Formats: sequence, C-alpha cells, structure tokens
Amino acid sequence: MGQALRQLLDTTDRTSGVWRFSTLVMPANDKVVSWPEGNTPAITRAAVSAYAGVNNLVLKHEGMNPTGSFKDRGMTVAVTHAVRAGATAVACASTGNTSASLAAYASQAGLPALVFVPKGKVATGKLAQAMAYGARTLIVDGDFDACLALAREVGSELGVYLANSVNPWRLEGQKTIVWELMAEVGWTAPDWIALPAGAVGNTSAFGKALREAKALGLIDQVPRILAVQASGAAPFAQGFENGFAERVKVHAETVATAIRIGDPASWDRAVRAIRETHGVVVSVTDAEIMEAKAVIDASGVGCEPASAASVAGVKVLRARGMIGADDRVACILTGHLLKDPDATHTFHTGQNRLANAPVAIEPKVSEVERILKTLR
Ligand code: F0G
Repeated sequence: MGQALRQLLDTTDRTSGVWRFSTLVMPANDKVVSWPEGNTPAITRAAVSAYAGVNNLVLKHEGMNPTGSFKDRGMTVAVTHAVRAGATAVACASTGNTSASLAAYASQAGLPALVFVPKGKVATGKLAQAMAYGARTLIVDGDFDACLALAREVGSELGVYLANSVNPWRLEGQKTIVWELMAEVGWTAPDWIALPAGAVGNTSAFGKALREAKALGLIDQVPRILAVQASGAAPFAQGFENGFAERVKVHAETVATAIRIGDPASWDRAVRAIRETHGVVVSVTDAEIMEAKAVIDASGVGCEPASAASVAGVKVLRARGMIGADDRVACILTGHLLKDPDATHTFHTGQNRLANAPVAIEPKVSEVERILKTLR
C-alpha cells in the first residue's frame, strides 16, 4: 500500500505543497482558496550544523511560504472550509503570523476577517501584514491567551468562523510540512524533527502526520519529535518534565513573541504526539534563541526568533548526548527573518558575541579602506 500511495503522491500536481496531498488532507474539494503555498526549501548549511554539533542537519524553511510562515499551510485548508461551510466572516487570535496568514487568505476568499492580537507584543512585520492584507486588526489589552479566550467567545456568540489552530482543518494542512519534508528525500524519515512550540498546534499536527504516514506505509521508521519552548513560556516543557501528570499554565514572557503563550490550546493532542513518537520537550533561554538565530541568519538563511528555538533545542540535546553526532536531524524554521526586524536590530546593536552593528562613516574612501582592513 505504501509504495502505491508514495507513487501517487509523487506524481500529482505539485503547484501547492498542501493540495498535492489533498487525498490525505481534505479530499474531493475542487474549489480551494490557495496562494499557492508550501513547496518550501529543505537546505543544509555547514555553519548551522557545526553550531548545533550534528553532521546531518536539514533546515526546512517554512518562512518561504507566501505570507512568510508555516501558517499558510493550515490557513489554505481552514479558509477553503470556511467558504465551503458558508461562513460570513472569519476570526483568529494570534501572536502575529496566524493573523497575517488569515488576513491574506480571507482577502483572497472575499471574506471579512477579524484578528485579535496582544497589545505591544506583535512583531512589526506581522502587524503590518494584517493591516495591509485588509483584516480588521483589533489590539487587545491582554496577552495571547486572553486574545484566544475572546476569539473563542466571538466564535460561539457571534457566529464568526474561528481559524485558530484549535480548528482541525488548520492541523490537517500543517501535516504537509512533515510529508513534504519526507517526500523530498524519497520518503525516508530523519531521526529527529525539531520545531518551536507555543500553542502546540504544530506539534499536534506533526504527531498526526507521522501516525498517518506510518499507518499508510509511507515510512517505516517514525522520527522523534523535539518540541522546543522559550524558557519564559515553557508550560509544555514543564509538563513533559513531570510526565504530563497535569496541565501547566504560566504567565509567558520571551523575546520570541510568536511563542509567547502561557496556556497551550492543543495540549492533549500534543501530549499524544510526544508520547507516540518518543518525543522530547525542552526549553531554551532567550539568549540561546537569539544566538542560534544569529548563526542561522549569518549563514544567509535567516529566520524569526521563535524559529531559531529549533536549532537551539538540538544544540542542547546534542550537548546532553541525547542526539548523536550522526543522527539525521530536521529543524523547522517556522517564520521569515523579516517578520521581526526589531528583534534582529536590537540584537546586532547590543552587547552580544555575534553582534554585527552598523558603522557610521564619513563619505570618504579612506574611511571605507579602514573598515575593509578589519574584514580581512
Ligand atoms: N513559530 C512561529 C513563527 C509561530 O508563529 C508559531 C505560532 C509557532 C512557531 C508555534 O506554533 O503555536 O502551533 O506551537 N504562532 C501562532 C500565531 C500562535 O498566532 O501566529 P504552535
């Protein structure tokens, strides 16, 4: 069965990296709201591998999706369903990327969109996108968890279609990150797939993708999921530490605003994903995140702060000996470098080992010559 399905998936139209898997995502739907999305590059960079301490490291760059994050993979499916179900308006709570993505897809579908974002905690690029794509952007005096509570109420009381990752169609679309990654390498699975975790929707989607891939015979070996949280926003990592005995909630704070989430909405499904894949959840400090980001950025690849948590997490597990030097590791870079220019600027103009601050000069060749010498 696996062989035939692999062949079918490898030969279908690949215009969209999501809808190429439509039989396993949302079957028999000919009217899709698609950008198109997916088909993101899987790349290797020696400097990033060396930094993490592993020889076989692939970066799957989901920041190369049309609105600059992996959210587009889920949003194409959720908005397609919203249209199919006759929704008159769509809404989401967001730390930024979901709102940017929903705004773009709702605009394409001709649906009004409401997005709820936490005041002062959304990266400039993301907020600009939501406004530019035409969503009604509501700045909520509260954190992401408060925004989600409000969005849920609005969903049930005002009949607005909710497009957060609690929406099952979002997760269906996000499964394709994993499948596309494996299809690219002839349906061989890496030993580890590392990803940043906030509301843990993506962790849940990865668990489902791997469960289905194994059941359908697409892969023989199931990779272990490594979910990485920021230490100031690590309820899921704390839960993992005590065997997920109870659901943990915290007040979240981190430079990686995309994953600044204290009460992960997809907790139960993500617990299942970690258990089934013999996965691991760790937390890394903001300093570790920003240093890993600086290495990824300087390799010419670039990503937003939250994305770099994946590489920082691999480095931590490698140092503990849990990941071997020759293990095959895939890190998901979830968002584009340009999403959060302020975090990058602050890092490079601050006191950091890898800072690369701009230099002010007089418009003279001698000045440039002086600088050029320092580069050699
Ligand atoms: N990386 C980025 C760049 C994100 O934007 C998010 C989530 C995550 C990782 C974590 O994924 O929540 O499924 O565990 N951003 C959401 C948003 C919360 O509103 O854009 P998760």
